[in-house]
Amino acid sequence: MRLDKLIADSGAVTRKEAAAAVRHGEATLNGTVVREPDRKVDPGRDAVIFRGTPIVYREFVYVMLHKPAGYVSATDDRSLPYVLELLPPEYRKRGLFPVGRLDRDTTGLLIMTDDGQTAHRCLSPRRHVGKVYSFTCEAPLPEDAEAAFLSGVVIGEDEVCKPAILSPDATRTAGTVTLTEGKYHQIKRMFERLGNRITSLKRESFAGIPLDPSLAPGEWRELTSEETETLLSAAK
Ligand code: URA
Repeated sequence: MRLDKLIADSGAVTRKEAAAAVRHGEATLNGTVVREPDRKVDPGRDAVIFRGTPIVYREFVYVMLHKPAGYVSATDDRSLPYVLELLPPEYRKRGLFPVGRLDRDTTGLLIMTDDGQTAHRCLSPRRHVGKVYSFTCEAPLPEDAEAAFLSGVVIGEDEVCKPAILSPDATRTAGTVTLTEGKYHQIKRMFERLGNRITSLKRESFAGIPLDPSLAPGEWRELTSEETETLLSAAK
């Protein structure tokens, strides 16, 4: 791969800035200054130092964000705050995007990556990637609600949900829902179908990866190597 691409992919600068800095003598390759941005490097073997810092090559990055309310996870409406704004510029430069969508008022775990294939596969209905949400709702759920969720709630014309696990707590106005798909406003529409209304919704886990409880709304961190492995296996 080209030297300027390796530097830019590490997230430090844009490709253009990397090329200019290399020409300026700000990078070394195996201890020697190189001034050709197109010099071929082997990320696994060559030691590249840029502005005094070794470049650690990562093909993809995976980030866990605790999405706060008020942010959108799709770019449909540019006037609203977008989840990517919560990440530092080096991640935005890499072209990270959210794996799936959460409604503007939904909080909780949102994974962001630049690994398009894994993201796409995690969202494919064929892979049945599990998502757990905690909820509160307006009225106590009826006794047969669990069975209704298990048998597949009809949320629209020709729109039947896959079996979902509803686990209300003793009050039956709060609990968790586990889905293996992600239809538009799915949980809200499922509750509406039961004559109820969701009053808060938070994603607690995605593909078996729980939201780190130490992350406050708006905070993020990269996935650990174990979490990344879990995500990649879910996408296989
Ligand atoms: N279901 C919803 O209704 N909204 C979300 O954000 C996620 C699941």
